[in-house]
Amino acid sequence: MSLRFPFELDYKPKLGKKTDYGIAFIGTGGIVQYAHIPAYKKAGFNLVGCYDLNPETAKKVAAEHGIPHVYQSIEELLAAPEVEVVDIAVPPWEQLKVVTQVAAAGKHMLCQKPLADNFADAQRIVELGKQAGVKQAVNHQMRWDAGIRASKHLIEEGIIGVPTDVEIQVNTLTPWHMWPWLAAVPHLEVLFHSIHYIDALRYLFGDPEWITSRHARYAKQGGVKGETKTITIMDYANGLQGLVAVNHYNEWAEPFAIFRFIGTEGAITGTIGLMYNYPTGRPDTIEITSSRYGKGVKITPTLDEFWIPDAFVGTMASLLEAIENDHTPKDNSTEDNLKTQRLVYAAYMSAAENRSVRPSEVK
Ligand SMILES: NC(=O)c1ccc[n+]([C@@H]2O[C@H](COP(=O)([O-])OP(=O)(O)OC[C@H]3O[C@@H](n4cnc5c(N)ncnc54)[C@H](O)[C@@H]3O)[C@@H](O)[C@H]2O)c1
Repeated sequence: MSLRFPFELDYKPKLGKKTDYGIAFIGTGGIVQYAHIPAYKKAGFNLVGCYDLNPETAKKVAAEHGIPHVYQSIEELLAAPEVEVVDIAVPPWEQLKVVTQVAAAGKHMLCQKPLADNFADAQRIVELGKQAGVKQAVNHQMRWDAGIRASKHLIEEGIIGVPTDVEIQVNTLTPWHMWPWLAAVPHLEVLFHSIHYIDALRYLFGDPEWITSRHARYAKQGGVKGETKTITIMDYANGLQGLVAVNHYNEWAEPFAIFRFIGTEGAITGTIGLMYNYPTGRPDTIEITSSRYGKGVKITPTLDEFWIPDAFVGTMASLLEAIENDHTPKDNSTEDNLKTQRLVYAAYMSAAENRSVRPSEVK
């Protein structure tokens, strides 16, 4: 049985009043081309220019998308008066260097996830933003994915009561060829992928006391160096348990990408559409049961947004709104994101040392 939901689910990104800040890209690779630019165009943001270490890429992207300025260097980009916000999308080991320059120029910035490939650099990035007094946000856009954002709203409404068991499981055949540089990284799955799910669970349920993580490789993953199958458990002080289980080499079974948030009074379950055929994806689905509606009653609202591009509107809109109203970005500040980074490195410590780890052990 299915019921009309009694109130409008609040899951779409919200724009501030001023949306015409001049945005310039540093790095115009894959993610900028298939996610950032379509999202910003959809939202009507003001794309003023771009720079890439590979000038041909920057020129091609600018020509294809009608971006007026192609800068010859980061210095030229940062000196340009039309650039008010810098959207950084370079590999994580390049990000600290770029942030150092952007902060010195006093420009606001959206950093890519992961903030860095080690905790010290991530901390330094946050310090640089603070010292410069600029707004600094991170592109953890799963917080704006429709299923996750709708779940946040429902959990805050008390629909599931006290959360007790929460999980995100993704079992798919990931198109690794889209990121050839990832083949060489020693830390792969948790740092680049499960980080989204760990961050989403933090967004919904807060910070765990303990993290336990098990990492493995797939027999046929060839030259891909890092872990590609991981299971991570997040234990909370009040008995809540979180599970993130991901396998990127499901070559045979039907793919699945699901979330289940179960509580004392109800449950929210659904699918993460993007992970069924990345990067095209499909809208998430969501199903709600709650003691408010009676046992056996399933409520299945339609979510009509795609992770790519819609969630990417959310991260930039949050930064622009923070600039406009002069406060820390509400749902994606880099400072908050350090706690996600901390969990990621706690997961690696757990896997390496075969034990549960407290996040505070990561210095
Ligand atoms: N938020 C997400 O969901 C998501 C998804 C995919 C990738 N990413 C992140 O986005 C970043 C870029 O990923 P991608 O898939 O676009 O990679 P990519 O290899 O397609 O593009 C990276 C681009 O950065 C340029 N570049 C490298 N160093 C630079 C520097 N110092 N200055 C200027 N340009 C530089 C390269 O020339 C290249 O064009 C990575 O950090 C990745 O982890 C995030």
